[in-house]
Amino acid sequence: MTQATIERVRRISPTLQRLEIGVEASLARLKPGHALLARLSEEGWDPYLAEQWIPVATDGLTITIERPARDHYMPGQIVTLLGPVGAPFPMRPSLHNLLLLAQDTPPTPLILLASLAIRSQIEVTLVLGGTATEYPLEALPPEVEVLTGTIEEGWPNQVTTVGWADQVIAVVDPRYREQLYAALLARIHALRAEVPRQYVLGIFDLPMPCGTGACQGCAVSCREKDRLVCVDGPAIDLQDVNFG
Ligand code: FES
Repeated sequence: MTQATIERVRRISPTLQRLEIGVEASLARLKPGHALLARLSEEGWDPYLAEQWIPVATDGLTITIERPARDHYMPGQIVTLLGPVGAPFPMRPSLHNLLLLAQDTPPTPLILLASLAIRSQIEVTLVLGGTATEYPLEALPPEVEVLTGTIEEGWPNQVTTVGWADQVIAVVDPRYREQLYAALLARIHALRAEVPRQYVLGIFDLPMPCGTGACQGCAVSCREKDRLVCVDGPAIDLQDVNFG
């Protein structure tokens, strides 16, 4: 557990803000997939009151996270951080084209990955559906190709985008996660002759009461053995998940 300081607070849309946080060296190497559990009050650590902070950028000892605009933060505020929790996204080797999808939830968990992929000369297509279309496009790297569509109805050029994609990663409205991920998996199988392991990942952004693998509160039912989001997640191969 470490302490950190909120250095800057910036509204990026009517519903989202970004916080720049000064952190210790141990937290400066966050990878896409990692999250932090943040506690804002000084009275001890109640895991049920911790906020899940997802990095969207890292720069030396400063990390940027994205939070709903309705939450209130002040520059100079001290926070207690636990983490990193979760595992880096399991990326496939020889990645040239990445297809990302966000539906009815902000694409926040995909932003750091998209930026790092662009820096590594990987082509990134991001499909935004439902309320995800409200995400401020100027907060994305300009090289990201943005399309509008949904998992159920499809999106422009989906045969090409899925045919070219070396990996697909999605985040969706948690209320309909199972149905949407099952539908996405079915769509990918319909569009590709072969769906290798780790090809299509779903982000399971569940609450993480302990963040350490101790409480089983973040378990996702999977075929061989259940996965804990705070240890193995948040991205899970959708071919491993038990849907209903
Ligand atoms: S949050 Fe407790 S096991 Fe994952």
